[in-house]
Amino acid sequence: MTTLIKNGTVVSATGRTEQEILIDGEHVVALLHPGSDLAGAAERGAEHVIDAAGKYVVPGGVDAHTHMELPFGGTNASDTFETGTRAAAWGGTTTIIDFAVQKYGENIQASLDEWHAKAAGECAIDYAFHQIIGGVDDNSLKAMDVLVDEGITSFKLFMAYPGVFYADDGQILKAMQKANDNGAMIMMHAENGIAIDVLAEQAVARGETDPVNHGYVRRKELEAEATFRAVQLAKVAGAPLYIVHLSASEALEAVANARNDGMNVFAETCPQYLYLNVEDHLNAPGFLGAGYVCSTPLRSKHEHHHADLWKGLRVNDLSVVATDHCPFCMKDQKELGKDDFRAIPNGIGGVEHRMDLIYQGVVAGELTLERWVELCSTTPARMFGLYGKKGVIQPGADADIVIYDPNVQTHISVDTHHMNMDYSAYEGVVVDGKVDTVLSRGKTLIADNAYHGTKGDGRYYKRGLSQYLM
Ligand code: URP
Ligand code: ZN
Ligand code: ZN
Repeated sequence: MTTLIKNGTVVSATGRTEQEILIDGEHVVALLHPGSDLAGAAERGAEHVIDAAGKYVVPGGVDAHTHMELPFGGTNASDTFETGTRAAAWGGTTTIIDFAVQKYGENIQASLDEWHAKAAGECAIDYAFHQIIGGVDDNSLKAMDVLVDEGITSFKLFMAYPGVFYADDGQILKAMQKANDNGAMIMMHAENGIAIDVLAEQAVARGETDPVNHGYVRRKELEAEATFRAVQLAKVAGAPLYIVHLSASEALEAVANARNDGMNVFAETCPQYLYLNVEDHLNAPGFLGAGYVCSTPLRSKHEHHHADLWKGLRVNDLSVVATDHCPFCMKDQKELGKDDFRAIPNGIGGVEHRMDLIYQGVVAGELTLERWVELCSTTPARMFGLYGKKGVIQPGADADIVIYDPNVQTHISVDTHHMNMDYSAYEGVVVDGKVDTVLSRGKTLIADNAYHGTKGDGRYYKRGLSQYLM
């Protein structure tokens, strides 16, 4: 099947041009000048011509942080690989990197096999894996080498969740030394979980059990402290570091300082930390705040976190926007913590809305169009060894392409979203712009407000080393 996309403005991380895109099978084969002989010949020969007049044509989104079916707090994230990746496609994301999970005492390779089994034949879009290491020991350190060879080139460690995923400083240092050796990226959940658990226990003892207390005990200082400590450990080990789901200005400062010192320290934030806050969301009436329980937590609107994060995205102290998509329904799932916020499963679903929500940065003048593409597609692809195939529209790349209409609005609601969630964290939000058409390796997944894919369209990708490291 050959496809020609014409009349659109092609936006990359480095610029925008009026070009036509010729696709043959799964790949982009040429970018052609409109009106040229080659473009004319391509149009005559194409089996499918897409008119993108008035629209942006951008590389498919790469969401580097999702948790389909994640077991957490006695339940599982409510999106399967089938439902979650279909929702991602609706939102213009054509690749996810999900986390295989090793809990303390489990075998890493077995946990990875389990994740392959969950995803194989289910996905609407392409996918790859990071590996969570829930117990750093000699076996897992050895496994890191094996996994890098298998295309799992990044490992998430936790300074939070004692007894579940927590790694102490010595364990973190050892894993970072291993990463220095084998070229892997260490991803860090940077919150001081030991101190948080003390504060949480004290809060519950005082009878403070509502969802908002989740935010109160997970203090910004404890995110900042852990971020700073992770940076120092990375410096000692000579390893690169990628801070996940950063929410506090103070943590951003630690990242910015490390980057100013020339370190290979990177960070991502997520739409929830740019849009949602403690007062209006986590402290919503009744038990509604449970829908906003995630870690790191939402921050106060009376401080400057949102503005600082948008600035961080602009000046590249924040390199990536991912969703940390980890949905739980209110019914039967978030409700587990009705009497104790500690039992609310942590996570917010948003895989469908990332491209739209970050595009608002362009509308508001915070980001250029190019920076939007860079944050949502090109940098995550480069950061995690997928670039060339993903994150770019160029000859040889996978034809993962989003046609984005800036002249239409998107209304976000539980009634219209495609995620398997019984609420929307962004209920009632109306944003400028809309995903119009989505191609994944040349196949049309979304067009004319309909889904045209089938489960199993998505393919597993082995990743290379980060292209941000020497
Ligand atoms: O609340 C969150 N972020 N849930 C997912 C697990 C994690 O720590 O990323
Ligand atoms: Zn985390
Ligand atoms: Zn996560």
